[in-house]
Amino acid sequence: MLQAAHQAGSVGLMQPWRFIRITDHGLRRKIHQLVEQERHLTAAALQQRQDEFMRLKVEGILECAELLIVALPDQREQHIFGRRTLPEMDVASAACAIQNLWLASRAEGLGMGWVSLFDPDALALLLAMPKGSRPIAIICLGHVAEFYPRPMLEMENWTTSRPLSDMVFENGWSDDS
Ligand SMILES: Cc1cc2nc3c(=O)[nH]c(=O)nc-3n(C[C@H](O)[C@H](O)[C@H](O)COP(=O)(O)O)c2cc1C
Repeated sequence: MLQAAHQAGSVGLMQPWRFIRITDHGLRRKIHQLVEQERHLTAAALQQRQDEFMRLKVEGILECAELLIVALPDQREQHIFGRRTLPEMDVASAACAIQNLWLASRAEGLGMGWVSLFDPDALALLLAMPKGSRPIAIICLGHVAEFYPRPMLEMENWTTSRPLSDMVFENGWSDDS
């Protein structure tokens, strides 16, 4: 599945993805603590929806079979091709790799969750990442009891998804969506 991720397209063939496999249980627990901290901060920021948010399942760090961190490497400023006006194309490329990982996982019947509830500087410090690199995803991967028939956030009445027709415009931005 990491091979599938690594086949992703990337800006200027930058391949701005690094995968850190977490096999140490103590480290896994520390990562979980970082996410717990951010989960509480997110709940506080959500104000009147904080209790509702705290009831949602937003990570599977302690129970997943495989825990991966996806990070952008350092020295990304050397890559100018396709990024001069859009430097965020590094994140976009790494997200393509993560999506490949996601599709490969689902094709194998495995579940995957992308956890973004963490302080990237704290996680970088914990994993001894070089200055300038940046973790963008904690990936929880493995067998799951079942897949949700619809997006979980919709089933839990957190939000509703919008149809494709709301997202497609013709000859310029349309305001009536
Ligand atoms: C960029 C990105 C960040 C995400 N961050 C989180 C997160 O922090 N916590 C969470 O529960 N889901 C997060 N999700 C959503 C889940 O990873 C995912 O949609 C969910 O596990 C359902 O998986 P499925 O779409 O394969 O059914 C994120 C998704 C994306 C694309």
